[in-house]
Amino acid sequence: MSAAVTTFDITPFLSQKSNLWKACGIRGLFPLENIPGMISLLAGRPNASTFPFESITMKLKPALAGMPAPSGDDDPFTISLENDELNEALQYGMTAGVARFINWLEKFQSQVHKRAPDVSWNVVVGSGSQDLMHKACEALINDGDYVLVETPVYSGTLGFLAALPCKLLEVKADSQGLKPDSLETILANWETKHPGKPYPKLLYTIPSGSNPTGASIPEQRKIEVLKLAKKYNFLILEDDAYAFLYYGPEGQQARSYFALEPEVNGEMGRVVRFDSFSKVLSSGMRLGYMTASPRLSTVVNMITSNTNLQPSTLTQVMAHTLLSRWGPDGFLAHCTGVAAFYRTRRDAFERVARKHLTGLAEWTSPVAGMFLYIKLLVHPDGRDADSYEIVLGKAVAKGVLAVPGTAFMPLGGPSPFVRVSFSQIEEDKADKACRRLREAILEARAEAVAAQKI
Ligand SMILES: Cc1ncc(COP(=O)(O)O)c(C=O)c1O
Repeated sequence: MSAAVTTFDITPFLSQKSNLWKACGIRGLFPLENIPGMISLLAGRPNASTFPFESITMKLKPALAGMPAPSGDDDPFTISLENDELNEALQYGMTAGVARFINWLEKFQSQVHKRAPDVSWNVVVGSGSQDLMHKACEALINDGDYVLVETPVYSGTLGFLAALPCKLLEVKADSQGLKPDSLETILANWETKHPGKPYPKLLYTIPSGSNPTGASIPEQRKIEVLKLAKKYNFLILEDDAYAFLYYGPEGQQARSYFALEPEVNGEMGRVVRFDSFSKVLSSGMRLGYMTASPRLSTVVNMITSNTNLQPSTLTQVMAHTLLSRWGPDGFLAHCTGVAAFYRTRRDAFERVARKHLTGLAEWTSPVAGMFLYIKLLVHPDGRDADSYEIVLGKAVAKGVLAVPGTAFMPLGGPSPFVRVSFSQIEEDKADKACRRLREAILEARAEAVAAQKI
């Protein structure tokens, strides 16, 4: 890393409340147990001999990519946890995650994002990435803070932001993701529009295969956003839950904000990155990880150590065993296979959507993720119609359900879009679903035309 790159100090961004989270009286002492020779009478850990599990065996699907060829007597498709390893997996563990799992993830982040290990970042494991996003926002948001939110946006994030004492600012996104010009307009006019108010502290964005829009922001836009972050001094919360589901042209996936920040801004630590295993290993395992300034990680760990204590040791050990067997490249090969699956699903869904919805709806084909964001063309004169009633009144009555766009609007405004997920649906069912959606749009259109004539 060149000498010109500095480590960004996140401390001034921490919320007043972040100071109230203190190390748990018990968990805060856990690291001392690692001192050689220490006899620990510390934790109320249950005695593993009383646990009813003798072993846990996982059989892997040989058809999935990423598996090394069998060597010798090793069965590469079976993972068995027993004895000490099983006892560890069934026991309380460290707040930030199982040490060797964190270690694997830090090396992986280094490889994928080309960020050498240094003092500007570390990895913390959570019970899914959303757990960590919520805690990071708790650690950062003060009463009255402004938060910039890519719009439309994942409703799960809106759910926890609604319970925090911040004000949301909608930053427009289009089929190419977040629009830097919309961001700049808000910030350049800040003093006029919000006299005496502090500038926004955070930007929350979903850069790949966004939920709900399916959009992936190109690298050039990311660079513009990063420059604005430095100019106007805000943090970027990069929620990249769909990063592993990229199925666009090979070699053209934009680098992450986390990867770009040293090169673009000459600093490291302004980007707080969230990754998820939900879409590529299992969503029920509830595993995600945050890559962030260690100062922020410490506060997030304090919150964890006083709330849900830690992410599941069992699922971490399972994931780590699998990942170390695959290695980083094997895992990435697995992700490429998963992404190819979703590309096939996208193609199948779009085939039937084109058949039934041409002229009645429009959308942009995504290059990542599992969503189509479909704009319903209801008014013949091109005006937008809110999709809520069309979905919940008409489409549901016809037997098809999708998410009305208003669910993804930070300030709850209307939206002519609906989000459809093509992750699970087979083509014959997708065909029926699109036919029903067509009928709902036609009905809404007929009503709109009749109303115009009155
Ligand atoms: C954009 C986005 N972020 C985060 C999450 C939650 O991910 P996790 O299962 O890792 O908590 C989701 C889940 O659908 C999502 O769509």
